[in-house]
Amino acid sequence: MPKVIYVSEDGSELETTVDVGVDLMHAGLYNSIPGILGECSGGLACATCRVRVPVEWQSILPPAFPSEAELLGFCDEAPPEARLSCQIKMTQELDGIRLLVSNNLD
Ligand code: FES
Repeated sequence: MPKVIYVSEDGSELETTVDVGVDLMHAGLYNSIPGILGECSGGLACATCRVRVPVEWQSILPPAFPSEAELLGFCDEAPPEARLSCQIKMTQELDGIRLLVSNNLD
């Protein structure tokens, strides 16, 4: 089963396995990852699931749909590497992906 590594601002890491097809917001909630709130349950309405994706993983992810990019555009502090973890579905190719999580989401 592929794994994801959530990296907090303080450098602490939590590694967990995720079933293929499960989104990485729900995987974060199941593991009580601080900074992943998922207030709209993946409805593309809150951006409280946003994460930063290290450059080495960005080309492996499918590009953001326009609706995801639009919502990220409304965030004051969304760097170019920001993605919505609710829109990232686990695949075998993403095995080992690292997601950087901020504890200061609004
Ligand atoms: Fe709301 Fe991802 S959970 S946009």
